[in-house]
Amino acid sequence: MLNVESLVVRYGTAHALSGISLTVEPGRVTALLGNNGAGKTTLLRTLSGTIALHGGLAVGGSAQLEVRDLLRTPADRIVRAGLAQVPEGRRVFAQLSVEDNLRAGGLSVKSRRDAEQVLGRVLEMFPILRERSRQSAGLLSGGEQQMLAIGRALMSSPRVLLLDEPSLGIAPLVAREIATAVRQIADTGVAVLLVEQNTRLALGIADQVYAVDGGAVAAQGPASEFADSELLRRLSLGGGSGGAPASPRPASPRPVSPRPASPRKEQ
Ligand SMILES: Nc1ncnc2c1ncn2[C@@H]1O[C@H](COP(=O)(O)OP(=O)(O)OP(=O)(O)O)[C@@H](O)[C@H]1O
Ligand SMILES: [Mg+2]
Repeated sequence: MLNVESLVVRYGTAHALSGISLTVEPGRVTALLGNNGAGKTTLLRTLSGTIALHGGLAVGGSAQLEVRDLLRTPADRIVRAGLAQVPEGRRVFAQLSVEDNLRAGGLSVKSRRDAEQVLGRVLEMFPILRERSRQSAGLLSGGEQQMLAIGRALMSSPRVLLLDEPSLGIAPLVAREIATAVRQIADTGVAVLLVEQNTRLALGIADQVYAVDGGAVAAQGPASEFADSELLRRLSLGGGSGGAPASPRPASPRPVSPRPASPRKEQ
């Protein structure tokens, strides 16, 4: 459904993504793991059409949501096409009420009747948001704000949901609650791309895993085969972008051979 092929993204002259390829399927949680600076947030910004706001530019490769070319579609149309992003650091509108934050998420895409229905489903998924619906969002705890940020993204009824480190800075119990909700969202048929540094949490709910290092995929495979992976252990221990890929183990995840940083040549 979402296909990224040999994507190259720069900030000025510095490459942040150097030929990354992955696919994200409906009904599945695809986890993107990697150290600080690996390029995870850059990928999500590129897919949501917001990379230019951060001074970045896609200079090679492709990113398609079905037939739609995401690299040439403005951010608001990408949302309308069914892709929503929960950005790093959960940014809610602190002065607005919880309910108004949620309604803001559905504004551009929903008729009023649809919005009421989706709002009902979001409040069912996160009952604490119903309890706090009239409170200012700024008064919520970090975990509750993350739930609100996810709920707001869900208000546009996305077919693809991008999540950037939803567990960051959140108490473990609440992080697990959020992970369970993310799994439920995928189980309704949404294609979820989950960026996480909390490997254990991500592996607990993911179907497919990509380990990213230095702006490219270092390894990929089903989540079950990652749990015990020496390669992943090395990557999460801070191998950095200069580290050579680990030698292949008999079972997957399969290491990916390095790709050239330039876009694919048309034959
Ligand atoms: N707005 C920006 N301008 C210039 N360089 C940037 C910008 N944002 C990120 N970078 C650089 O691009 C590279 C990839 O950063 P990115 O934020 O995508 O990594 P990340 O995997 O999300 O890291 P983290 O785990 O710390 O969130 C890093 O070298 C980073 O310093
Ligand atoms: Mg990041």
